Amino acid sequence: MSKTSWTTNNIPSLSGKIIIVTGGNSGLGYEAVKAYASKNAQVILACRDLSKGENAKQEILKTLPNGLIDVMMLNLADLSSVKDFADSFQKKYKQLHILLNNAGIMMTPYQQTVDGIEMQQGTNHFGHYALTGLLLPVLKKTPAARVVNVSSMAHKQGVMDFDNLLYSNGLSYSPLGAYGRSKLENLLFTYGLQAYLERNKLDIKCVVGHPGVSDTNLFAHIGSKFLQTLLSPIFKLFIQPASMGVLPELRASMDENVQGGEYFGPDGWREMKGYPVLVQPNPSALHKVHIQKLWQVSEELTKVKYPEL
Ligand SMILES: NC(=O)c1ccc[n+]([C@@H]2O[C@H](COP(=O)([O-])OP(=O)(O)OC[C@H]3O[C@@H](n4cnc5c(N)ncnc54)[C@H](OP(=O)(O)O)[C@@H]3O)[C@@H](O)[C@H]2O)c1
Repeated sequence: MSKTSWTTNNIPSLSGKIIIVTGGNSGLGYEAVKAYASKNAQVILACRDLSKGENAKQEILKTLPNGLIDVMMLNLADLSSVKDFADSFQKKYKQLHILLNNAGIMMTPYQQTVDGIEMQQGTNHFGHYALTGLLLPVLKKTPAARVVNVSSMAHKQGVMDFDNLLYSNGLSYSPLGAYGRSKLENLLFTYGLQAYLERNKLDIKCVVGHPGVSDTNLFAHIGSKFLQTLLSPIFKLFIQPASMGVLPELRASMDENVQGGEYFGPDGWREMKGYPVLVQPNPSALHKVHIQKLWQVSEELTKVKYPEL
């Protein structure tokens, strides 16, 4: 791979490519939609609030008036919405070159999704597991398709406890613990999916990125407003703009040399900022039994099965 820094200038023309970005109305997802649209892709901005999605689209069209952006409803915390999205998408589009599983929430208080799944894992992992499985038919019809997941350095704090995976009724719940677990699940799912794709000889790769620490709306739930204001100057020292933070997921989705299962993050100090390079996950993300167990639980909870050929 090239030693020069990878930027959006490395993205070739995407004319004719069809790309879904989950959480495309805000932060990294918004930047991804903008980057893909600037290269003439047909981008599906998937969001849980259509008015926010439409505002984001209009904002992008101010600088890219010919951008092809289709706003579609997707609530990852509601499996019926995930199914509706996958059905509507496949009625409208016949190929899917990139599925960017970007949406996420962080450190929210204990809540459950519509289907009774702990909210951070339900949104960040189980919703994306279901979405990817339901979109497999169209991914299979597309040459060299890619699924890109978005993890975090916080996966290193994640611990899998299959006896109480979903913090039943809030038991032992901690906002950071659940976030870390969900981001570890993004990696475990990546390796499980890549193994599935290889086993079934499908022309699809699954890769993963993390954005370091990036200035987005993700931090809304950390501490009180007072604490956020107090810590903001220190925080700013370690944070990069969303336009930089998005580069690892963009590179994972684009770089023609990428191998299935590779993980990209920023090249700076402690992977907090910088240009996207290959990085290593924590060994906990490579735990073969946990990869398998998570796959099994994901199937059971979402009722989405990935067929073996
Ligand atoms: N920013 C960082 O430093 C950082 C670090 C590590 C990892 N990440 C990861 O980066 C990804 C993007 O986050 P961000 O930083 O760009 O944060 P953000 O600005 O808060 O964007 C998150 C996006 O996800 C959407 N979303 C949340 N719940 C959803 C649901 N149930 N269904 C559909 N969409 C939903 C949000 O929609 P609404 O606008 O409607 O809320 C928003 O569009 C996340 O996976 C996050 O874990 C970020």
